[in-house]
Amino acid sequence: MQDAYFQQLTECLKQSGNGLQQLVIDIERYEYNLQLMRSLWPVACIPRLVVKSLANSELLRLAMQRLNTRALMVFHLPHISSCFELDSQVNILLGKPMPIQAVVTHLDEIYTNLPKIQWLIDSTERLKQYLGLAIHKGCRFSISLEIDVGLHRGGFQVEQDFVKALQLIRQHPEHLQLTGLMGYDVHIAKLPAPIFKAAERYRISQQRYADFIQSVQTYLPECDVTQLSLNGGGSQTLLHHFKQTVCNDLAFGSVLLKPTDFNLPILQDFQPALWIASPILKRMESFQLPGLEMLSRLHPTTAICIYGGYWRGECVYPKGAKPHPFYGRSTNQELWQLPKNCAVKVDDYVVFQPAQSESTLQQFHMSYFYHQQVLKGALNFRE
Ligand SMILES: Cc1ncc(COP(=O)(O)O)c(C=O)c1O
Repeated sequence: MQDAYFQQLTECLKQSGNGLQQLVIDIERYEYNLQLMRSLWPVACIPRLVVKSLANSELLRLAMQRLNTRALMVFHLPHISSCFELDSQVNILLGKPMPIQAVVTHLDEIYTNLPKIQWLIDSTERLKQYLGLAIHKGCRFSISLEIDVGLHRGGFQVEQDFVKALQLIRQHPEHLQLTGLMGYDVHIAKLPAPIFKAAERYRISQQRYADFIQSVQTYLPECDVTQLSLNGGGSQTLLHHFKQTVCNDLAFGSVLLKPTDFNLPILQDFQPALWIASPILKRMESFQLPGLEMLSRLHPTTAICIYGGYWRGECVYPKGAKPHPFYGRSTNQELWQLPKNCAVKVDDYVVFQPAQSESTLQQFHMSYFYHQQVLKGALNFRE
């Protein structure tokens, strides 16, 4: 990452920042990633934006526009209403099963939009709970069945259980409708490469997915599987799907901001676009470690204290800055060691590339969109 880029960002923050730790999104880089995604996208698949990874109205609005999609994947029930406020025509797939109590609590608020929401169901027991609620309320739930294609995070694993769920849906068409399957396959990217070949793992997970589709055709023959949302993918496996997939609906989010967990060879063409910038509060030319003050005379090190700290990720500016190995971490005023000849001073900024976007966006009230030396704030999704 070039120093000149971060020096410019620092100048911009000094001119028009708020002097606090700020979450910054480089809009040009974000647009670049969107354009790249658009150019790679297979026509047969619907792009579904992962809301937790882009939990900001402006980020989502831009991505929906550029990728021409209204399909969203939501992981936190209160985000459903935020999504409908953004665009009343979005269609939502829950990315994790919601406890029935959460559905009961929020049902009134989302009732009119119920046909645009697909609920993720991972077991027949949960399906029965949803059926009970649908009967009680006189409504119908659109159901996406979570299938285990190798990640083993839950969902239907064996055909016998899957068929029981299909039969329950078949018996209650007025209250339950099968609208899709969801098989998340991130294990393909996580397994150690020399032992596990990603292409082979992908082939196996796709075969499992195809077997579940076949079961739907067999046990729910009235269902037109081409009309189902056959969701798969995620930023880390998307490019496998682009070559060949049984899915018609692919979810992703993080790669558009590319936090450090997504610095993978397969995603090398995407650009990091998310930063945490934090002002420097203090600079100490010869930092003294408590109890070992003598040591600083023998081995002087320069240290800084910053506003906030202890974020998961990497410091990208100034290069070579690192937390002190013995001083301890702090979320309030973290101490960092500087490399020799590093000229940053009080009121300059330190810049981090966060490890994840989903956890980072939650920690900040606002994101600041950075474009041509201007910063513009937009609220992040909160509860
Ligand atoms: C079900 C599901 N689909 C897709 C994703 C991919 O999200 P991202 O592209 O932000 O990694 C996730 C991430 O947690 C997920 O749980």
